[in-house]
Parts: sequence; structure tokens; C-alpha cells
Amino acid sequence: MCGIIGYMGNKQAMPVLLNGLARLEYRGYDSAGIALLEDGEIKVFKQAGRLANLQERLSGNGFSSTTGIGHTRWATHGRPTDYNAHPHSDCGGRFVVVHNGIIENYLELKKWLISEGHIFKSETDTEVLPHMMEHFYKGDLIPAVSMMIEKIRGSYAMVVLSTLEPDNLISVRKDSPLVIGLGDEENFFASDVPAFLHYTRNVHYLDDGEISLIASNRVEIFNEMGQGVSKPVHMINWEAEQAEKGGYDHFMLKEIHEQPASLKKTLSGRISEDGCRVDLQELSLDVDEIKKIKKIFITACGTAYHAGLVGKYAIESLARIPVEIDIASEFRYRNLVVEPDSLVVVISQSGETADSLAALRDSKKRGMPVIAITNVVGSSIAREADHVLYTWAGPEIAVASTKAYTAQLMSLYLLALYLANVRETIPEEESRQIILELLSLSSKAQLILDKKETILDIGLGYENCKSIFFIGRGLDYAVACEGSLKLKEISYIHAEAYAAGELKHGTLALIEKDVPVVTVATQPFLFEKTFSNIKEVKAREADVFALAMEGIGEVQKEASQVFYIPETHPLLTPVLSVIPLQLLAYYVSLARGCDVDKPRNLAKSVTVE
Ligand code: F6R
Repeated sequence: MCGIIGYMGNKQAMPVLLNGLARLEYRGYDSAGIALLEDGEIKVFKQAGRLANLQERLSGNGFSSTTGIGHTRWATHGRPTDYNAHPHSDCGGRFVVVHNGIIENYLELKKWLISEGHIFKSETDTEVLPHMMEHFYKGDLIPAVSMMIEKIRGSYAMVVLSTLEPDNLISVRKDSPLVIGLGDEENFFASDVPAFLHYTRNVHYLDDGEISLIASNRVEIFNEMGQGVSKPVHMINWEAEQAEKGGYDHFMLKEIHEQPASLKKTLSGRISEDGCRVDLQELSLDVDEIKKIKKIFITACGTAYHAGLVGKYAIESLARIPVEIDIASEFRYRNLVVEPDSLVVVISQSGETADSLAALRDSKKRGMPVIAITNVVGSSIAREADHVLYTWAGPEIAVASTKAYTAQLMSLYLLALYLANVRETIPEEESRQIILELLSLSSKAQLILDKKETILDIGLGYENCKSIFFIGRGLDYAVACEGSLKLKEISYIHAEAYAAGELKHGTLALIEKDVPVVTVATQPFLFEKTFSNIKEVKAREADVFALAMEGIGEVQKEASQVFYIPETHPLLTPVLSVIPLQLLAYYVSLARGCDVDKPRNLAKSVTVE
């Protein structure tokens, strides 16, 4: 999804902007551009493709400008071309805008602006913005921005640079992320903090409708009524290096290896001193409220949805509360039967996914309180939810989610146990045992990572496959779904997850020689059943790679390759069994020469529907 940076300060702006855009690359993009205010004129440089292309084109240019804006674009309206890349300008080159989001009524606005004599150069929705600035500007940028946003429908985070007010940059946001970085004699706008983390750790989070102005030595923020507002300064405690590759070839591999640490972090401070109960006071949920819950709806997209599948099992079996789960893009379009005392859990790594945010808003409209499980403090979902449970996975840069998924699982186990503890649905001893197992997951995850070479060998065998199936039952099926998504999104091999018992109802017709079947078989009480499914696919000459749990069954009797995860509580196996599948996807992608961290057609944060 698009990334924005704006800079005004005492440094040369060009390297600051290009650096900032490089830190936002993880958001996904297909073109990049910057605009610099130089000698009273705005110079725009933009081009389709990788940021490196733009960097190369600009290298050797010693622009002295200390003011500028930059953008990485992920195409929505108009193809990924040079002329559709941002920044976009008005007719006279006096107003230049970068924008993230969608202007839904841009066609109608464009028609009106053309009738007023404006000339458009791109196919984008964004280009209406600089032309509207040109139309509304009467000597002050802020009222012009106010008039403009009154006319537009949609979502936006935008930054405006103008030759007419060379000492200010103006921004406004609604439903798209934007933060202000507060430096020393310099200030920043950005879609996300890694863009300026090298320069400052102090930020203001902006709310919907707020218009802000940065100069090199001051920041002003106004609400929708035009009144000045004072906002708290948040201190970011991520290390800049955390947002870089830290010695690994790819962010994905680095993030897979960060799982022992992020699991530990997500658990820390959330267990009672005697180790018997989960303590989530941070949720500020009333005990009576918890006791009254009749139903929970979980909703999320992609990998976060797969975490939700596990969450449903955990909440139902520990807290004995019925759980319905929906993909967020479906949630608000079905005629939900909302009973009193229902609760919604929205899971989102980025906290900005458009469908998850819309599901959250829809739930609130229906009167249901919402718990957000998210990785990004200050994200839209975190700010709009009634209660927030953060996954402390740190910034996730690779498009394919790994450490955020296992941190989401950990958070869901914590939530399930917390509800169970308050509702007294499990004995204290059982709670203590599960907590002990939760505490050991970090070191068990490390044991799996230490054996990653085994997975490398298996991955090399899959390099030329056309299709791979992932099967499992119960929680193993939920993990199969995640394993198949991981593989397909980064290796572009067709991969499909199937509930193992469902194979014979049609899909078995596709199983043959050269179609490997990855079987997740960690659940003790389902082992015999899944073992029969392994025999079933082997009888069709499929090659089977099985993931099993130490001490359960003898899967090696049938499977040609087996990876054993360390023994743990059956409810918690997904945290461990997904790791070999993440590694498998990584190695297959690598062997096929794919762009592991930035798979084609995908964005890290999907902020449009
Ligand atoms: C897959 C992946 C996506 C995200 C999905 C939701 O590896 O990362 O499927 O899980 O786009 O994103 P968040 O969690 O940010 O709402």
C-alpha cells in the first residue's frame, strides 16, 4: 500500500526522503516519486518500478532543498506508470500532493475541474487534489485543504507542498495512516514510523479529520472545526535496526527467526505471579461483562484470519463460549444475527486493513464491543477498538506474515485463558499446565529453527511442483490453511489446504504422482484418522511430507519425510507446526528465484477494500 513521507528541516531533503521511502518499501508499491522545493520552484521526479530506479536516476544530483515530499505508490486507479506515480501537481506547478487511499468521487470531481479549465496528466484519483487546491487557495493553505476535504469522499492521508507557502507542509488524514515525527529543527510526516526512525523517536499520532502543519521548528494540529488541538508525544522504543534485515538475506527469514523472542515478549507481564492465571487488565474488561458474554465473533483477513481459526478452537474449548468466525471482507455483508452480550475480536497485524477496520466499525454500529488484537500501536484499528491486546512482535516488514501470526496465536491463547479464568470454566491446575506450556513455546520454537536444514532439503524437492496440497484435521487444518497461503503467496505454486476428511468428497481426484501432500498430524486424538488420510493419498502415488508431534504415532511408516515438532499441549501445536511450513515456503520461494519479501501483486498493508 502507498507510503508517504514529508520533510521540512535543516538537512538536504532528497536523501532523507529516499531513505524514508526505502523504509516504507515493505508496504508494497509499484512506483515511487519525490518533489523538492528548490529555488522557489517544485521539482518532481517520479518513475514506475523499484525505488532503486529512482535513486539511481537522482544519484549525483546535489539539490540543496531542505523541504520535500515523497511517495511509494501501489496502483489502484490507473496503471503503475511514470505519469500515474505520485507526487501529482496542479496546472501551474504551485501545489503538489502525495496521497494514500482512494478518492471515491474523483470522476465527478475531475469532470467539474475540467469544466473549470484544469488540465489532467494522469489516470489517477489523486490528481483531483492538487487541482482542487489550486481552485480553493485564497492565500492560506489550511482553509483550502478544509474546503477540499469537504468535497471529497473516500479515504486519504495526504501531504501538500506549495510554492506559495514554502515554509510549511500541510497534511490531512481520514481512514489512512499518517504520523508526525518530531525532530530537532526538523519535522516529518510519514505513513509509518520506520520512515523517520533514524532521525527521531518522538511522534504525534493523527486522528481522522485532523489537519496538520509542519515547519522546521513547529507543528500545529487542527480538528475538523479548525480549532487547534494539542496531542500527546509518543516515544517509539523500536530499535532502528529492528526495522532492517539484521544480517539475514531476507526480512522474512529474519522475522521467522524472531519468533522465539516475539512469543516471549507477547507473553511477558500477562501471567499472574503464581503462574496459574492470565492477567489481561490492560483490556479493561469488567468481570461481570466477561461473565455475561454469550457469543464471540472473530473477524480478520488472510493470515490473521487463520490465526482466528485457532482462536475459535481455543476460546470454545477453554472458555466454553460459542465463537463464529468470518473473513472480514464478508463479515459486514452477511445478515448477522446479533444477540445481546456478544463481543467481537478483530485481528490485524497492521491495524490498518480496510476490511478489518470496516468490520470493526460495523460491529460497533451494531452495539457490539470490539477487542482488537494488533501489532501496531496507534493504528486505526487500535484506536477505534474498545479494548486492545497488542501482539509485541515488533515491526513486520516482509509481506508474508510470520512472526505476527504466531504472536496473534499467543494473544488468542492468552485471551481464551483469561476468559476461562474469569468464567471459571477450567480448573486452576489445568490453567497452570497450559501456562507452563505457553512459557515453553519460545524455546521449543528455537529447537525447530535449529533444525531448519531439514526443511531446506524438503523445499528443494518442491521447486518444480505445479501443485501442492496441505491437509489436516481440527487445529491441524487451521495450520494447513496458513501453510498453503504462505507457500502460494511467495513461491507462486498452486497450493490448497483441505480438511483431510473432506478429500474423498471430490479433491482426491486431483491427487496423483508429482502432487505432494503436506500433512499436518499433530493432534493426538485425530492422529489415527489423519494417518488413514496419508494412506489414502499415498495410494494415489502422492509424496507425503508429514508434520507430527514427538511421542504421537509412527507417521514415518507411511510418510516419505517427517518433521517432528517438540511435544506440547495439543491446543498449542499451531505455534510450533507452522514454523516448518513458513520455512518450507521460504526455501521453495528462494529456490524458484522469487522476490521473497515482496511477492508480486501483493501489499503488506491492504488499506483499500
Ligand atoms: C499473508 C498476509 C496477509 C495478511 C492480511 C491481513 O502472509 O500477510 O494475508 O495477513 O492482509 O493483514 P493485517 O493482519 O495487517 O490485517
